[in-house]
Formats: sequence, C-alpha cells, structure tokens
Amino acid sequence: MAMVMMKKSGGDKMQLSKRFQEIHERATCIYTKAEVDAALDQMAREMSVRLNNSDPIFLCVLLGGIVPLGNLLPRLDFQLEINYIHVSSYGVENKVGELSWKAEPTIDLSGRTIVVVDDILDTGTTLKAAVEYCRMKNAREVLTAVLLDKKKPRKPGGVVQADFKALSIDDRFVYGYGLDYSEYLRNVPGIYAVAPTDNVM
Ligand code: IMP
Ligand code: MG
Repeated sequence: MAMVMMKKSGGDKMQLSKRFQEIHERATCIYTKAEVDAALDQMAREMSVRLNNSDPIFLCVLLGGIVPLGNLLPRLDFQLEINYIHVSSYGVENKVGELSWKAEPTIDLSGRTIVVVDDILDTGTTLKAAVEYCRMKNAREVLTAVLLDKKKPRKPGGVVQADFKALSIDDRFVYGYGLDYSEYLRNVPGIYAVAPTDNVM
C-alpha cells in the first residue's frame, strides 16, 4: 500500500503567544525545512555555474532576504561579497503601500555583478526598484534571486521573473524562512500558508 506523506499544519515546536500559536495551528505547511534546504542546494548549484568567475555582490533585500541569503551563503563556494538594501513595499499591517527606502548599500556597485536576493517575488515592485537602483549606480550586470516565486500576474513594470528561484507557490499569503506575518514568524523553519480567515492581503 502506498504511503501518503501528509503535510502538517503548524503549531508544534514553536513557542509563540496565543495569537501566533493559533495562526500557526490553522496554517498549512507548503514546504518543509528539508524541502526548502533541497531547493536552496539546487539554487546554489545554478548560481555556481553562472557566477563563479564574476566576483559578485549579493545584495540582501532587508528584512525578508536575511534568512534566504543566510542559508544560501554557506552553500556557495566561490568568491563573493555581501551587502544590503532596504526597500519595502509593505507596511507593518502587510498592506501594499508606497515603496519606502530605508537603507542604501554601503559598497560601490559600479562595474560589479549584483545578485539582488529577496524572500519572494510577488507583484515585482520591490525587486524592480532594487534592480533600477543598482543600474543607476552603474552595476555591470544585475541579477535577481528569490526563495519563492508567487504564481500571479506582476504589476505593470515589475520584475516578471527572477533569474534564480528556489520554489514556486500559489497566490496565498505565506510565512516562514524569512517571510513575515505582521513582522513575526520569520524564524519558522518551513513555508506555511495562512488559513483564509487569517489572510492579511
Ligand atoms: P512585491 O514588491 O509585491 O514583489 O513584494 C515583495 C515583498 O512583499 C516581499 O519582499 C515580501 O516582504 C512581501 N510579500 C509578498 N508576498 C508575501 C507573503 O505571502 N508573505 C509575506 N510577505 C510577502
Ligand atoms: Mg520583504
């Protein structure tokens, strides 16, 4: 008889307040930590082929890019630098808002290969702003990398496809592995989709 592996809802192992515990219990695990790790292994291999002689700068889009990039870095076995950019299109209540610039890179991007790393490609607005910033700073080449590609139409002018993506998801609100739910739950080891009643978008 074939064994069917059921994906768990959340709720176990995390120590959370009642509010987030309930949200996590109602959520559905889309990708386990093992599945995310395997996808990061694969993305790292693709990056090695494409980038190993280009002395790139990996630019972390704060805050969502921290966990994806942090987990990616030890998998990359070639010369690179890291830095950050803080541009955000979401307010604290997860509503789409104006793009807000909070921090620029502290390193000269001119003439360099840049890999902009974010947690998720959603409407494409945030990555587009980051890519345009790098071009304005005379980067030689600008590539994009995301942990998740949300399968939905992008906003006009937004980045349509990332150069590197680890995993795809349907158009649902997710948290974990760097993605937040009201600024919390970024540290959840796995990707979870919230129940429809908890949807914030
Ligand atoms: P975009 O500019 O619409 O592509 O949005 C990218 C940003 O939106 C990401 O960096 C995330 O911070 C946020 N975002 C989009 N979808 C989700 C989600 O499902 N969960 C958490 N954050 C999300
Ligand atoms: Mg983000």
